[in-house]
Amino acid sequence: MTTMTTMTTMQGSRQVKRGINPVTVRPIRLGDADAIYAMHKRLLPESLYYRYLQYRIPPLAEVAALCNMSPEQGAGFVAVTHTGCEHIVGVAHYVRDGGQHTCAAELAILVEDRYQGLGIGRSLWQRLHQHAAADRLCELRVIFDVRNHRLLRLIQGSGYLYKPSFDGDLNDYRVVLSEPPQPSRIRRFLGRFVTYPSAS
Ligand SMILES: CC(C)(COP(=O)(O)OP(=O)(O)OC[C@H]1O[C@@H](n2cnc3c(N)ncnc32)[C@H](O)[C@@H]1OP(=O)(O)O)[C@@H](O)C(=O)NCCC(=O)NCCS
Repeated sequence: MTTMTTMTTMQGSRQVKRGINPVTVRPIRLGDADAIYAMHKRLLPESLYYRYLQYRIPPLAEVAALCNMSPEQGAGFVAVTHTGCEHIVGVAHYVRDGGQHTCAAELAILVEDRYQGLGIGRSLWQRLHQHAAADRLCELRVIFDVRNHRLLRLIQGSGYLYKPSFDGDLNDYRVVLSEPPQPSRIRRFLGRFVTYPSAS
């Protein structure tokens, strides 16, 4: 993981209305494994299914491996609230295809149920894409259930071009990073709820 000290902070009326504390997005760390594992145990079955395409909680060792990726393997970010101590409520990562000599990676994202619909997924998504583009990746692949409309809206609202394909109940989309995102295609609420860090 490259060193990164910049963070994305979200403070908006949606959080205030629902009594939810501000959320910060930062790079994932090895020490996050226990908190991410605990977050999985709080998830509703539908979210688990949409994330893993089966009803499973990954073992702690698998979560720890995700938190300990080298830059050649991939990268990840977490969304945290600060209620006395840090509390992880979202995670997104990509894993490079076949090691460092390819320019494609597979992406996954997960936000805890009570924090969904607040723009946290969009913030994680955007941060991960910025990082992947800076990491010279050419595309991010995401495979998801055809009923997963929130994920589809994330893809459609990110500003990046994408190549959709379908296989039965699954969508298989490739987000093209070699072209910069088109501002006119980025969903407007971003500007109201998210402060973007300078490129790191
Ligand atoms: C997909 C997911 C990451 C989105 O995170 P989120 O924090 O809820 O997303 P946001 O609040 O940023 O909203 C993303 C989009 O979904 C829309 N959305 C939010 N709540 C919604 C709802 N109840 N119904 C329909 N769309 C909704 C938002 O309006 C937004 O679209 P817009 O910008 O075009 O308006 C989250 O729902 C999740 O973790 N789902 C389970 C795991 C999963 O599906 N992972 C993807 C496969 S790896």
